Amino acid sequence: LTSDSLLVGDAAALRALPGTGAGLRAVVMTMGALHEGHATLIREARRIAGEDGQVVVTVFVNPLQFGPGEDLDRYPRTLEADLALARQAGADAVFAPSVAEVYPGGEPEVRVTAGAMGERLEGAHRPGHFDGVLTVVAKLLHLTAPDVALFGQKDAQQLALIRRMVRDLNFPVEIVGVPTVREGDNMALSSRNRYLSVADRASALELSRALLTGKAAAALGPAAVRRAARVVLDAAATAEPPVVLDYLALVDPADFTEAADDHTGEAILAVAARVGTTRLIDNMPVTFG
Ligand code: PAJ
Repeated sequence: LTSDSLLVGDAAALRALPGTGAGLRAVVMTMGALHEGHATLIREARRIAGEDGQVVVTVFVNPLQFGPGEDLDRYPRTLEADLALARQAGADAVFAPSVAEVYPGGEPEVRVTAGAMGERLEGAHRPGHFDGVLTVVAKLLHLTAPDVALFGQKDAQQLALIRRMVRDLNFPVEIVGVPTVREGDNMALSSRNRYLSVADRASALELSRALLTGKAAAALGPAAVRRAARVVLDAAATAEPPVVLDYLALVDPADFTEAADDHTGEAILAVAARVGTTRLIDNMPVTFG
């Protein structure tokens, strides 16, 4: 099997894929520029689908989820390498449609709206972003018709919103979350990391360091977690290049509202910042007793 033979370019070819019989169809949706984080999702999809099942990876840079002035035009496009990585990780097919294939009527008139959860944190900094994400995820779920779809906790708010959409709109699919894959030094893997210079990367490492420092204060409660993470980010603001903070928040994973000072159970410590011209996000789960 060559990498090229995995490629499925349009919805008709996707429909023509052989059925899965008793096995499950598992889908991993991506915007390409695949890395070890995506590979982990694909391997997990292979494990869930089983050898009789089918693993479909989608590669589509969705214009609808990029705001004006964001990196749509410079988003890395590496389809050849993506096909090789997907095959290596266990994919049976890679659906890489054109914009015209996904949006045959141009900009869609009818869309999915993310509601209040979609206006917090990432949504507050990227207006309309989650409407664009949920609209394309809904479309790709219809096109690929999976039993299971896997998403990374790296994009925790996206994962929570997709779970909510599936529940609110009765999509017949099971959503599986996969923990964030990190480099040896704890930097979260991201397609956008390839924009970082050596100096940028050193500054960007302060994001995961802040999250780990916050998490280490969990026994002292939510206020202490926020404070500890904030100290690291305040120092990083004067690094060269500086870490320019968009937000640091400790939120309830169910709805992404701020966790109360007496919050118990799981919360998510989330951060977004710009380093040079690159915007990065990261988060870690923190459990309170
Ligand atoms: P993309 O950023 O390419 O991410 C594709 C999937 O890989 C998402 O579920 C994301 O959470 C997961 N992922 C990325 N980095 C990860 C890491 N370090 N560890 C674990 N999982 C990781 O997210 C999108 O694309 C798009 O918004 C999409 C859902 C495809 C809709 O366009």
